[in-house]
Amino acid sequence: MIKRKNILKIAIDSPAAAGAGTLAKALSKHYNLFYLDTGKIYRFIAYLKLKFPKKFNHKFVKKKIISLEVKELANKSLLSDEIGTEASKISKIKNIRKLVHSFQLNFAYNPPNRFNGSCLDGRDITYKIVPDADFKFYITASIKTRALRRFKELKKMKKKVTYLEVLKSIKKRDKSDFNRKISPLIKTKDSLLINTTNLNKRSCFLKIKKIIDKKLNI
Ligand code: C5P
Repeated sequence: MIKRKNILKIAIDSPAAAGAGTLAKALSKHYNLFYLDTGKIYRFIAYLKLKFPKKFNHKFVKKKIISLEVKELANKSLLSDEIGTEASKISKIKNIRKLVHSFQLNFAYNPPNRFNGSCLDGRDITYKIVPDADFKFYITASIKTRALRRFKELKKMKKKVTYLEVLKSIKKRDKSDFNRKISPLIKTKDSLLINTTNLNKRSCFLKIKKIIDKKLNI
């Protein structure tokens, strides 16, 4: 694999709906980093499974991942709760994780030249995908806050869900993401814990920016 030298790498892990994506996007924009929401790849595979149940096998997924373009991950249909739940199930499969692995490595270590580096968020980024990241963060928030944020997001998208349904599905997803055997969600010792329960988007961004700028001597 080609690795670009002297790039800035930020790795973020977090449970569902903790605000990591919003934060990672803001950081990527500010520091001009190539941004990847790795959950979207698992969601994309979940979407393939639901859309093409008969064709869905290793070869089919492999082909789709090889030709996958980042812009395909922006598809709004990947955001539904149904796809999130399915993504959590398929992400436990070792062979699926292997397929996604090289896509993520290439993204993290070889971003296009116009970027100063990369920023990835997910569940196993700080210890498996980018273990040598310059900055590692573990973003979390209380389960009620996370459920409320996701509920509002889904409502904005005109989805028919109740708060309790969202809360239940996030609890289920936490259980599966924290307890699975392969690549469970953990906070590594070298990741900085940021609890966003009482932080709005702006203050969360500013808090992290301060930490980064200090180390970078900006
Ligand atoms: O972050 P998001 O909620 O979109 O992720 C969907 C699911 O994909 C997660 O619940 C998790 O099971 C899985 N995932 C993963 N590893 C990652 C990112 C997401 O297993 N790096």
